[in-house]
Amino acid sequence: MRPTIGIVGGGQLAWMMAPAAARLGLPLVLLADPDDPAALLVRDVIDGRPDAEGLRRLASRCDVLTVEHELVDVDTMEELAAEGHAVRPSAATLRVANDKIRQRELLAAHGVPVAPWTVATDLAGVEAFAGEHGWPLVLKRPRGGYDGRGVWVVDDPSSAQAVVDEVAGEDLLVEPKLPIETELAVLVARRPGGEMAVYPAVETVQEDAMCREVVLPAPVSEQLTARAESIGRRVAEAIGSVGMLAVELFVVDGEVLLNELAARPHNAGHVTIEGSVTSQFENHLRAVADLPLGSTARRGPCAVMVNVVGEASDPRDRLAEALDVDDVAVHLYGKSFRPGRKLGHVTVTDADVDRARARARLAAARLVEGPPS
Ligand SMILES: Nc1ncnc2c1ncn2[C@@H]1O[C@H](COP(=O)(O)OP(=O)(O)OP(=O)(O)O)[C@@H](O)[C@H]1O
Ligand SMILES: [Mg+2]
Repeated sequence: MRPTIGIVGGGQLAWMMAPAAARLGLPLVLLADPDDPAALLVRDVIDGRPDAEGLRRLASRCDVLTVEHELVDVDTMEELAAEGHAVRPSAATLRVANDKIRQRELLAAHGVPVAPWTVATDLAGVEAFAGEHGWPLVLKRPRGGYDGRGVWVVDDPSSAQAVVDEVAGEDLLVEPKLPIETELAVLVARRPGGEMAVYPAVETVQEDAMCREVVLPAPVSEQLTARAESIGRRVAEAIGSVGMLAVELFVVDGEVLLNELAARPHNAGHVTIEGSVTSQFENHLRAVADLPLGSTARRGPCAVMVNVVGEASDPRDRLAEALDVDDVAVHLYGKSFRPGRKLGHVTVTDADVDRARARARLAAARLVEGPPS
């Protein structure tokens, strides 16, 4: 069997699926903007949006539909599945993945530990929660946020009011600001029949609510790692994911709590390209194509990934400086330069995690410094 895989989206996740697909000889077709990064690598691009019309055009050209982001017309995905198209992940999985409130409702019912939360649409609702849990709080848009856009830490009623005004009556997810010790992520590949492959938990390091660094394996106790991995399996089964699933977790007071999930390859898994026997991108394709999954074992003792986030200059102009760092894998997505935008990442594998981190940070810093002198 050699299914053509249709990917909704053409960003960096599709861009990193493309070489894995090419190696396996799996044809790809994208529903994307022809200027998107992945369109540089995939010949077959449908120029369109992830609405009913775009998704139907994609479905007519592929055997399996998958996504690189959740913001698709889920009703159409459901209709396509009912008409006999292979939609992986399913519409039901996507409905959970694109809504942080649904994630908490569903997964708490499956015994996944979740921090206290409520939904508020006005200041009174936020203040009632603060009355029970105190300030500061974290307010989140339940849908559509990424890289910390849609996440606000509020210290008092007046800053909460500003957020309530900004979202103008939409639901807000309200949580205490948790004393997070470490953030972890677990990546799970799952086939339609339920076979799973779980990657060792990674540590994710965020700055201003955006992921900056990832360490494989997470430098935490075996007990925490095992706990995280078992939550990953439980979530995959509860939401019936097919393809890659990323489960973001917090360690608070020695307990592992759910943060959020994504039903697709994820920034926390870029480190698997060099750090693992099979990358998350290859395992996503294998899973949605219902092919045997690849090993999730580490290739070496450890790997560190650092994101390249736009600062003073376009990283593509700084390539020589970055490649001057020993043994660094540079990935630049070909996205136009904008401060604060994820434009690429670098990964270093080494026997020593501190050495790996230092070289990865150095290469990433060189990519974003001011123009070459
Ligand atoms: N309740 C909380 N207490 C403390 N910090 C939090 C809390 N919720 C979120 N954060 C911080 O904000 C980050 C981003 O939150 P979240 O994952 O919900 O947002 P996102 O924008 O959807 O994330 P992503 O960058 O993964 O797309 C978390 O990784 C964590 O560092
Ligand atoms: Mg997150």
